[in-house]
Amino acid sequence: MNPKPHAHLAGTVANRDNLDLLREFPDACCDLVYVDPPFWTRKRRTSAQSTNGYDDRWPEDIAEYLDYLTVRLREMHRVLADHGSLCVHLDWRAVHYVKVSLDGIFSRDNFLNEIIWTYRTGGVSKQWFGRKHDTILLYAKHRGRHTFNVRRDGAFRTEGLNYDDQGRPYKSTKNGPLYFHPDGPVMTDVWDIPFLSTVAAERTGYPTQKPLALLDRIIRAVSNPDDLVADFFCGSGTALVAAERLGRRWTGCDIEPEAVAISRARMGLSDAIHAAPTPTALDASTARLSEGNTGST
Ligand SMILES: C[S@@+](CC[C@H](N)C(=O)[O-])C[C@H]1O[C@@H](n2cnc3c(N)ncnc32)[C@H](O)[C@@H]1O
Repeated sequence: MNPKPHAHLAGTVANRDNLDLLREFPDACCDLVYVDPPFWTRKRRTSAQSTNGYDDRWPEDIAEYLDYLTVRLREMHRVLADHGSLCVHLDWRAVHYVKVSLDGIFSRDNFLNEIIWTYRTGGVSKQWFGRKHDTILLYAKHRGRHTFNVRRDGAFRTEGLNYDDQGRPYKSTKNGPLYFHPDGPVMTDVWDIPFLSTVAAERTGYPTQKPLALLDRIIRAVSNPDDLVADFFCGSGTALVAAERLGRRWTGCDIEPEAVAISRARMGLSDAIHAAPTPTALDASTARLSEGNTGST
């Protein structure tokens, strides 16, 4: 049997600056790179359960942040396979600057989507509309050669339509009845997925942890089983957990020892715990790893 490509890269969570690690990765070794970098909030990000959190403090001029991210995005482009894709998760603060950088690195032709992840938690303002979405920029290394699995979600609008003898709704057309796909409409680029609640079983306590349902949806759409999924800003390891559940191989890194300890514990790696938070949450999320695919979307 042929060994899996780049087998030595898979199954690790490195405590490194991702730029140093990326420079050691060979060209074209990753099938999917998902990253959720600091958002340029210009604050230290902490939470009640986190021992340390991570740094997102920057000067008022965004140039330094953009330089830091752009040099890393160039490396991510290099390590992507021909059929691979990059997802960059940001919000209103910096996404418009980073999209321009990515157009330069990937070329505008390889832009696929600006995914809007909308949720309801967090504060509101009396001065502007509630800011209730993050943006995930999706680029292919080569549009047309990239992996894309069409997904379906939700229900068709069927009010006022005809129903056949078996109760199935259809549209009448000049060519006869037109039925709807049984799995619902093709998914669009606006995703309504709840933010992690304070009592969610998967919550690790790490600040700005993202929900597994979001990563499940991304990984299913733009990768295949056995692919290598990389997260070079892995935080609590959400992308790695989702990849494992979906039968993908994974590799991660983070500059913060606390993030690496949490990720390693979630992934069941042995030398895991230096600064682990909330053992109950970790036990719960690690236990679910062995349950197989969640089918959460
Ligand atoms: C927004 S958090 C990621 C959260 C993660 N998606 C999750 O679900 O838990 C960003 C992470 O990037 C890490 N980070 C920032 N700069 C880094 C660098 N140069 N190399 C590696 N990790 C870095 C931070 O320590 C932080 O854990």
